[in-house]
This record gives sequence, structure tokens and C-alpha cells, in this order.
Amino acid sequence: MATHTPAHSSTNAPKRYLVTSGLPYSNGRLHVGHVAGAYLPADTFVRYLRARGEDVRFICGSDDNGVAIEISAMQQGKTPQEVSTHFNGRQARDFAGLSIEFDVYGGTHQPAFQAIHERLSQEFFRNIHSKGYFSKKKTKQLYDPKAARFLPDRYVEGDCHHCGSHTRGDQCDNCGQIIDPLLLKNPISIISRSPAEVRETTHWYLKLNDFEKPLKEWLESKQGQWRTGVLNFALGQIKQGLPERAMTRDIAWGIPVPLDDPDAAGKVLFVWFDAPIGYVSFTAKLCEDRGEGPEAYKKWWADPETAIHHFIGEDNTVFHTLIWPAMLMADARHQLPTQVIANNFLNFRLAGSDEKVSKSKTPEDSPVWIEEYLKKYEADALRYYLTAIAPETARTAFDPADFVNRVNGELVAAFGNFVNRALTFAQRYFESRVPSSAAMNDMDRAHLAKAAEALPKIGALIEGCKFRSAIEEFMAYTRVCNEYFGLREPWKTRKDDLPACAATIATCVHTIQWLAVMCAPFLPTTAKRICEQLNIDPATALRWGAPKLLPEGHTLGTPAILFTKLEAASGEGPKG
Ligand code: 2FM
Ligand code: ZN
Repeated sequence: MATHTPAHSSTNAPKRYLVTSGLPYSNGRLHVGHVAGAYLPADTFVRYLRARGEDVRFICGSDDNGVAIEISAMQQGKTPQEVSTHFNGRQARDFAGLSIEFDVYGGTHQPAFQAIHERLSQEFFRNIHSKGYFSKKKTKQLYDPKAARFLPDRYVEGDCHHCGSHTRGDQCDNCGQIIDPLLLKNPISIISRSPAEVRETTHWYLKLNDFEKPLKEWLESKQGQWRTGVLNFALGQIKQGLPERAMTRDIAWGIPVPLDDPDAAGKVLFVWFDAPIGYVSFTAKLCEDRGEGPEAYKKWWADPETAIHHFIGEDNTVFHTLIWPAMLMADARHQLPTQVIANNFLNFRLAGSDEKVSKSKTPEDSPVWIEEYLKKYEADALRYYLTAIAPETARTAFDPADFVNRVNGELVAAFGNFVNRALTFAQRYFESRVPSSAAMNDMDRAHLAKAAEALPKIGALIEGCKFRSAIEEFMAYTRVCNEYFGLREPWKTRKDDLPACAATIATCVHTIQWLAVMCAPFLPTTAKRICEQLNIDPATALRWGAPKLLPEGHTLGTPAILFTKLEAASGEGPKG
């Protein structure tokens, strides 16, 4: 029976964190749904950990193998390598444009990563094979007689045998369940659009049923730590029984099955077998590139003192909570994930109805495509909005009108306005210096104390992956700052009580230092711009914790608007 080393207990703080984001298929543009699901929350989490001084590696790259890429290549008259390298580059640019900063952005079939990824994936396969966790079976599979080839799940469409809706042959987007293509009703080949027929072939199946008990125990040990929706879904699947899953495929594009067996000839590993191993192989490549040697990645994967956090979209839950952990248990050389943070889908709201973002239905120039968004708007505005509407427990929708309203009402009117009013006041009336806080009164001190209360609350929410509540907490504090400014009326005290006015503005400057720390994991560019305006070094000023308050007389930088108001009409205003 499989054994596994338990991950560090929740009472022991991990020594280091390995954070991954689900690998996007390299056959299309990224959209807001991808970003809200697997990438932005992970980046926020990583930025927070780094600000706290933790040892963190943030791993991602493209999922290049398998049929999805093969199909796109077929449709575009290109090779799978051309398609995957093209989109790997575009996606990497999108991430950079949104300040989502991985330590490594690899790709399971990108030239620099392919060799190490293939070696580690084949090692996993051989090791699991040698332990007897695969069953080799002759099986029936759908075949396209016109195209004279077997049809992988993704090459088939039909009606879901769970819910009846029209679906691809691997997983139903409507009900989220795994599809058995042989049970699909009315299967057709997507190559020739003709009816598919059943023929015999040989594949290697992972005996997932062998892992039902250890998976159940492991998942139950996560009660109270993981999102309940994720746990309940995974435990529900175990209750239904975990069918064996073929881990090999009859296609040409992928990693050759590493067995000395004539039946394995011409077959490749199932893309979902090698994709999560990409997390390991990209870590290994990163360690090698940093001159740490070929074994260094084991510190990140095999040491129980490393916490491993996988951020994913909801459609990847089965693979990250059951199949990948079962592979890890079978392989028994690496740690199981500490956390699997799955977010629901983020749809696109157009004319009042919520649609899935899709190549066919969503307008090509819609700002829900990250490339399009970045032509018009700034990264932090989207980072803010997607965190504020994060689909953490249910599906939500990107609504262009709501985006404009929230940017204008919250970033511009609350946060940006406070920072700008206070710093402009210091520039105009205190020669751009931090004024004296000698006359601080109880109200000033109480206001600063609220920052000291808000920061750990925000930190605890980020640690608990409640990013939406964390940003709400932050925004609530910016409102308190505006109220404070209004109550202290520095425009009046400037004329009749200058020491009080100075203390108010000094308190505001100090508060802005706190705000920069608090917002940095969410809004990294804004945090840096605040540092410029305060004339302080972001490398030290943005550490998570109480900032070292600026002394009287410190020369401030030049105030500038933090967020530009967006035009409401079409939801597509000037670059903000
Ligand atoms: O659903 C997807 O987009 C997959 N490419 C995710 C893979 S995640 C991981 F396992 F690599
Ligand atoms: Zn279904």
C-alpha cells in the first residue's frame, strides 16, 4: 500500500514555500478568468510571503503537450512546437504586464525545459510502473475511420453521461465530472466531424482505487485548512469510487512512454500525467540556472519543511486533489501539497448575462483578454478589481461597467484621493517635508493605531487565502483615512492652529507609509509609486510590518495622481 510522509503540521511554521500556478495550455491568449483563478491570487500570496521575509519560489510555465495543442496546431496549419512556443511567449508577456512575477516561467515542451521535463516525467512513470501501480490493459477506444487514427478524449464530442449537456470527451465543463468517452452519447470525431467507432488499443492505467484510503485520510486531515468546497468535491469523488485512469495516449505530440515494451511504441504520456510534473521540472531548472546544482530542487519537493501551495482554477480540482496526489503517493519521493487553492470560474458579463470567456463568443478586442486590457488600462486597476470580485467560493463575473465604477469609486475616490490630498498639502504648505508631529493628539494617535490593527488582519486573511476579504479590509482602512482627513480639517487648522495642522499631515504621511505596505501584495506598482512620492526605498519600506515612521523634516517626493478616473460610458476609458 502507498505510504506518504505527512506535510508539516499546521502548528510548525514551514521553513520555505513553493507556490505554483496551474500551467496554462500554450494554445491561446490569457483572459481575466485565468488570471483571477490561478495567477493573481498566487502572486498576491507570494508577494505577501516575500514581504514577510519568507523563502519562496513561485513556479509556473506553459502546458505544452497533449491534444489541446495538437488540435490548435492542426487548425492553424502549424506544428505543435510553433504554436506552443508562440503562445508561451505571449502569455509570459501578459503575466509580466500584470506584474505577476514568477521565479521561473517554463514550458513542458519549450526548448530550454523539454529535456529536464521529459527526464523527470519518464522517471515518475517508470518508478510508478516498477511499483505495480499501473495496470496494462487492452481497451476499447473511439476511432475515426475517416482519419484512420485513434481519438484521444479531446478529439471527441458528445452528450455528457452525467448531466446530458454537450461536452468535450475528457471532462464536462457543465458538471465538472470526468467523462468516460466510451459512455458519451452520440460521439463524433472533431477531426472529420463523422461518427466515431470503438476499436481496441493498449494503455497503462493508474490504479487510483489503490489510493482511495490514503487520499481520504490525507484530505480529511485538511479539514479546517482547505476551502470546504474543494475538500467536499474531492471527498465526494472518493465516495463514488475512483476509476482507473489511462496515463498513456495514442498521439504523436508529447513525452514518449518510457517502457521497453512493443505495445508502448508510438505512445505518449497523458498530458495530465506530465503537466503537474512540470511544477517539479521547472523548479529543477530554476535551481540549476541559479547554480544550485541538479539535486537542489529536492529541498523544495522532498523536504517536509517546505509548504507546497497549488493555485488552480476550479476545472483542475480533480487533478490536483486526487490524481496528482495519487501519483505523488505512488511515486513516494516527494511531498504532497500543503494547500490546493481552487477558485471558481470568472465569467464575463455582457448585456446583463454571464458568459464564459471564449475564443468564439467573446469579442476579440474585449478588455477581458489580457493583451487587450493592457493596451488601455493599468495592471493594478485589474489586480484590484479581480481581487475585489475574486471567485473564491462561487462563480463571479467581470462586468466592464462595474470595473469602471469600482476603480473610480474605490481606487480613485477613496485610496488615491486620500494619498493625493495629504501629499499635495505637505508639498504646498510644508515645503514638501514631513511636518512636526509634536502636537499629535489622541485622535491622531488613535488613527495611526487603526493602521496597526488593520495590517495583521489583512495579513491573516492573505495567509488564509481570503484575498477578497483582505482587500475589503484594506479598502475599509482607506475610507477611515479619508474620514480622518475630513474630521481634522487641515485646510482650517492651517490658518488658526499650525501645530495641529502639522500633526495631522505628519499622521497622514505615516498612514500612507502603512497603506503602501498593506497594498503592496495586491497593487505592487501603486506601492512603489507611493514610495517614490514619499521618497523612500521600496526594498526596505514595503516589508510586512510596522513601517519605520519618517522623521520630521524628511524631504518627500512629488505627489502625483495614483489612479486616473475612467470614463464610464463604454467601460473603456483612458489608460488609468
Ligand atoms: O486546465 C489547464 O489549463 C491545464 N493546462 C492546467 C494544468 S495544471 C498543472 F497540472 F500543470
Ligand atoms: Zn456533465
